[in-house]
Amino acid sequence: MLETMRWEDNKLVLLDQTKLPLEICYFSCQTYHDVICAIKKLVVRGAPAIGAAAAYGMALAALDCCRDDLNKCREELSRAAEALAASRPTAVNLFWALDRIKQIIRQEITCEDLFERILKEAHAIFQEDILINKKIGQFGAQLVPPGATVLTHCNAGAFATGGYGTALGVIRAAREEGKKIQVFADETRPLLQGARLTAFELMQEKIPVTLITDNMAGYVMKKGLIDLIIVGADRVTAHGDVANKIGTYSLAVLAKEHQIPFYVAAPLSTFDFTLCSGDEIPIEERDGKEVREVFGHLTAPVDVPVFNPAFDVTPHQLITAIITEKGVIHRPDAHAVREVVGTEN
Ligand code: MRU
Repeated sequence: MLETMRWEDNKLVLLDQTKLPLEICYFSCQTYHDVICAIKKLVVRGAPAIGAAAAYGMALAALDCCRDDLNKCREELSRAAEALAASRPTAVNLFWALDRIKQIIRQEITCEDLFERILKEAHAIFQEDILINKKIGQFGAQLVPPGATVLTHCNAGAFATGGYGTALGVIRAAREEGKKIQVFADETRPLLQGARLTAFELMQEKIPVTLITDNMAGYVMKKGLIDLIIVGADRVTAHGDVANKIGTYSLAVLAKEHQIPFYVAAPLSTFDFTLCSGDEIPIEERDGKEVREVFGHLTAPVDVPVFNPAFDVTPHQLITAIITEKGVIHRPDAHAVREVVGTEN
């Protein structure tokens, strides 16, 4: 599998996900400003990958200022953290990763050590995520019957994480257990993460995948072609409400109508215990050009007004279970979430 990111010669090298699958190329970040640009443009995307990239962004900021005096360096790092936090609002992993780095900055530490310690923490955030995804995969695979056809939305795979993936990690783990699984992937308008990334990732793994447009999901469910749905998450509240890529909520409503289990796979770093209701989750709105155009090619009147929310919220009542690295939260609500994962991450 292609690497989502790597640290090389004191630079953060990102797989440019905006170009996949047509081109495999890399975007090199020399400053934290480059990382902000990459997050905003979705060169790197997916909640856990955004968190890891932001942590490496802080390492770049530290590299730049670690020869200043400690107070100046702390000031510069706090500016960098604020700017990185403003890059995308919905995936809570971004803020979670920045908080981990901020804890280091607050410690008694010399200026010389600051960069090394922040870089070490960024590596840890990235590498721990792969192990966490594998645990999620082990728990989730128990919910996938042999021969199942799984519908997924957007890309919650290796590209969106440190590697392996959350929703696609469950599919990978089920396959590793020897189960024959096939996948329907929603193309996921407007930016086509399902078509460009999930279809590509599953084909690379030789997992059978069929691509559909988003508006075909109800039809394939009605025809009995789908046994279960698994998606990832950008933020999960203490009551189990889930923000994920726009279109996820519609799938959950359709799943209820067709009595199809609807699963969410998410690490603890995606939980926000400060929020109860999903209505409190900030939903990113992106440029209308993304809807008016496909790959820079205009497909609508140039001045048509557009509404382009990047995420929606699925209330916990529509979710069969949330799969975490600590176990499965069946019928999620405040009590069930607390029972499995506690109240802190
Ligand atoms: O806008 P994106 O591509 O960053 O949105 C990604 C998603 O919605 C994913 O499903 C989510 O981040 C989970 S990734 C493990």
